[in-house]
Amino acid sequence: MKETFLKACKGLKTEYTPVWFMRQAGRYMPDYQKIRQKYDFLTMCRTPEISAEVTMQPVRVLNVDAAILFSDILIPLEAMGLKIEFIEEKGPQVSPSIKTTADLKILKKIELDKVNFVFETIRILIKELDVPLIGFSASPFTLATYVIEGGSSKDFINTKKYMFSETEGFHQLMKILTESTINYLKEQIKAGVHAIQIFDTWAGILSPYDYEVFCKPYLKRLIGELKTVPVIYFSSNTAGLINHINELNSDVISIDWRIDIKDALSYLKNYPLQGNLDPLTLLGTEEEMFKRAKEILINGKKAKSHIFNLGHGVNINTSVDKLKKLVDFIHEFKCTEV
Ligand code: CP3
Repeated sequence: MKETFLKACKGLKTEYTPVWFMRQAGRYMPDYQKIRQKYDFLTMCRTPEISAEVTMQPVRVLNVDAAILFSDILIPLEAMGLKIEFIEEKGPQVSPSIKTTADLKILKKIELDKVNFVFETIRILIKELDVPLIGFSASPFTLATYVIEGGSSKDFINTKKYMFSETEGFHQLMKILTESTINYLKEQIKAGVHAIQIFDTWAGILSPYDYEVFCKPYLKRLIGELKTVPVIYFSSNTAGLINHINELNSDVISIDWRIDIKDALSYLKNYPLQGNLDPLTLLGTEEEMFKRAKEILINGKKAKSHIFNLGHGVNINTSVDKLKKLVDFIHEFKCTEV
C-alpha cells in the first residue's frame, strides 16, 4: 500500500506532498454519473459493491494518495431512529426533526447492524485498494444541526433557539450523538479504515464562546476515543476559532481557503496541516489554479507535514482533466523556496 498519506498524517516529512480531495467521488465525474443514472444516491450508499466501486473511481482516474469511503454524514442517523432522504433540488431531509428536549426520546443509541453495509464496504475496499482508506463521520455538532433543522439550513435558527433556550437538553442531545459517533467510528476502524476524517462543516456558525461550550468538549471526547488511527479534523469558516481548534489534539487539522496556511501555522505549529485550495479555482484558468496551488505547496512545507486538499468539496462543475493535472502538479512539485 502507498504510505505517503499516512506518513504525513503522522507528522513525518514526505518525498512529495500527498493529495486527495473532499468529495472526490461525485457528480462531476462521468464514471459516477453512469452509475448514478441507474440508482439513487441512498441505494448507492447502501449497496457495498456500488459504494466500493464509486470509492475507487477517483483513485483510478486521478491518482490521488488516499480514498475516502463513499457514504454520507447522515447515514448513521438511519440507525438512530430517524429517516433520511435526498430530494433533488431540496438536498438532504431528516425526519422527524428534534427541536426540543421533549423530542429527544425519538433519538436512539446507534444500532450498528442497521448500517452494516458501511462496514461491509470498508471490508471490500481494504482488499482492493492500493492507497489508504479514510473513514468519516460528521462532528457531533454538525450532525446536531441536521437533526434539529431537518436538513440543510442558511441561518440555523432552530439550532440556536434550542441551544440558547434549553441548554441542558442541548447537551443531552450532544452526548447521545457523541456516544453514537464514537461507536460508529470504532466499528469503521475495526472494519479496516486507515484514518478518520471528522467533518465539522457548520462549526463556523458558532461564536468562540459557544464553540467552547457546545462543540469542543464533545470533539475532544470523540477524538480521544479514536487514537488507534490518525484523525483529521475538518471545519469550515472557522479562522476565528483557531485557538480552540489548536486544543483539540486531533492528529491533522484541515483548513479551508479563508485562512492563509502561514497564519494558521502561527497557532497550529505542532500539527500536520491539510488543505486549502479554494475549490472554485478549478473553474478558472489553469494558470491561476497552479499559481495558488504552488503558493499553498510552498507554505505547506513550513508545517510539520502537509497533505494537499481543497478547502471544501469538489464542485459539481469541475473538469476531471483539470483535477488530474492538479494532482500531477502537486506530485511533481519540488520546493526550493522554503
Ligand atoms: O468525499 C467523498 O467523496 C466521500 C463521500 C461524501 C459524500 N458526502 C458524498 C455525497 C462525504 C464525505 C460527504 C459528507 C457530507 N455530506 C457533508 C460534509 C462535507 C461537506 O460537504 O461539508 C455534508 C454537509 C453532507 C450532507 C450532504 N450530502 C448534502 C448537503 C448533500 C446535497 C448536496 C449535493 O451536492 O447534492 C449530500 C449529497 C451527497 N453526498 C452527494 C455525494 C456524492 C451527491 C449525491 C448525488 O449523487 O445526488
